[in-house]
Amino acid sequence: MKQHVVVYKNLPDALLARLRHEFDVTYFEAITDANRAQFLHALTGAHGLLGASLPISNAMLDSAPELKIASTISVGIDNFDLDYFRQRGIMLAHTPGVLNEATADAIFSLILTSARRIVELAEYVKAGKWTRSIEESMYGINVHGKTIGMLGMGRIGSAVARRAHHGFGMRVIYHNTRPNPEAERELNAAFVSRDDLLAQADFVCLMLPLTAQTERLIGAREFALMKPSAIFINGSRGRIVDEAALIQALQNKTIYGAGLDVFEKEPLPVDSPLLQLSNVVALPHIGSATHETRLAMATLAVDNLVAGLRGETPRHLAN
Ligand code: DGY
Repeated sequence: MKQHVVVYKNLPDALLARLRHEFDVTYFEAITDANRAQFLHALTGAHGLLGASLPISNAMLDSAPELKIASTISVGIDNFDLDYFRQRGIMLAHTPGVLNEATADAIFSLILTSARRIVELAEYVKAGKWTRSIEESMYGINVHGKTIGMLGMGRIGSAVARRAHHGFGMRVIYHNTRPNPEAERELNAAFVSRDDLLAQADFVCLMLPLTAQTERLIGAREFALMKPSAIFINGSRGRIVDEAALIQALQNKTIYGAGLDVFEKEPLPVDSPLLQLSNVVALPHIGSATHETRLAMATLAVDNLVAGLRGETPRHLAN
């Protein structure tokens, strides 16, 4: 009898066909209030789970007694309780590597857009307000030659720092759980304490995974340490930041601006004060969202799932 796979995220047809060839597949393009009960019911017979962007609670896992593997189409694994996966002996696979460059491109675009006020000024032109040469109050700030502070120098952090060093002649400082000798050699990156980084960086770039240790790591104290001219960039996870403290820091001009791809609550509520601030560039969590990269991630996630269900070791196990 074929094993049962539950997919809870839209998947390209060819990948879905590949899964259907080998497994019984229950397919949900996304989980909504309308189909949540059906999804939970499908879990009862699931051997494999494939998807993204949905917290998979331990209660959900409890309703899936046959589950062998969950394969997430993301590098981040904060939607899963790793300890519970270990306890249950369920494999958790993810998609590191293939999204590094696209995500670094998106994060660097946040740096440029925030510093040069691209969104704000493009809207000004579209609104027909460009009737004479712009005033000094509309100038941005330089990116090239400035100091970028990487809070986290893993795979994606290193890709951002490479762009900063090689493309924009920036000085790179970083703080990480452990030193990154390759970044120090290749990018002349200097390891500094977290507080020194916050005090020295012109661009504070948060590139950490969300864990119990990093949740709300950046709050009022940390924003107060930053320069008033600093731009805060977050392309990792919103819950690493105390968002109310960030809003205050932006409203009070404790910092100059922020470029944000991730938020405490996603989608960002329409009444968020962040949307009222001209010194904020907000994106809808698009770090890896290019056609090529999302296809590579989905392919890798399917490869991981298939390997796990065939009794092989998936290429990228998180536990
Ligand atoms: C990831 O892969 O974790 C990205 O944030 C997309 O969710």
